[in-house]
Amino acid sequence: MLQYVTTNEGKVREAREYMDCEQFAYDYTEIQHVDLGAIAAHGAREAYREAGNPVLVDDAGLFVDSLGGFPGPYSSYAEDTLGIERVQRLVAGEEDHRASFRCVLAYCDGADFAASPDPVDRDERALAAADGEHQSDSGVPVKLFEGTVRGRIVSPRGDGGFGYDPIFEHEGTTMAEMSTEEKNAISHRGRALAKFGEWFAER
Ligand code: IMP
Repeated sequence: MLQYVTTNEGKVREAREYMDCEQFAYDYTEIQHVDLGAIAAHGAREAYREAGNPVLVDDAGLFVDSLGGFPGPYSSYAEDTLGIERVQRLVAGEEDHRASFRCVLAYCDGADFAASPDPVDRDERALAAADGEHQSDSGVPVKLFEGTVRGRIVSPRGDGGFGYDPIFEHEGTTMAEMSTEEKNAISHRGRALAKFGEWFAER
């Protein structure tokens, strides 16, 4: 069974709308990198070593246009240290409230797969960037699937979802005001999961 690697049950709830998977609550090393793909690829190799089964790592981040993409790869740290309401107040001080949420899924099962234009196999790039420490794993391919959603940062609304959902509005509705199904239909994760599901079904 595919192991969905995250300590976040909200992510697993969304993933289960697309596939059968088990939660593998493994806290993989999040390397410091501007590229979510490099972070997820490194995590997938580490998680695969740990699980010995096919793994899918889910790394996401909020990128605020007027803050130069902050908090981006540091979204989890910003949520823990500032909290989403202070992040929202920070953005409220800017004129432009537009933002993106991005999700990268990194799949690894120890086997080889051919590169394809979309989803992109950025194995080598991620490796070169991220994998100084585990050179012995450098041959283990990782396949990346990305999804993005555009929206704006607003005062918190809604009780659903998790993380930044209450302050991320898409077409008039915050992601915390959506059901799991509604969020998946438009979200960064839903888009990445749909790409992965298509590829995995053919595999
Ligand atoms: P990570 O992918 O678990 O590192 O998540 C990065 C940060 O983004 C954490 O603060 C999560 O709570 C938050 N986050 C991840 N996915 C979502 C989402 O779908 N909605 C809102 N916040 C999210």
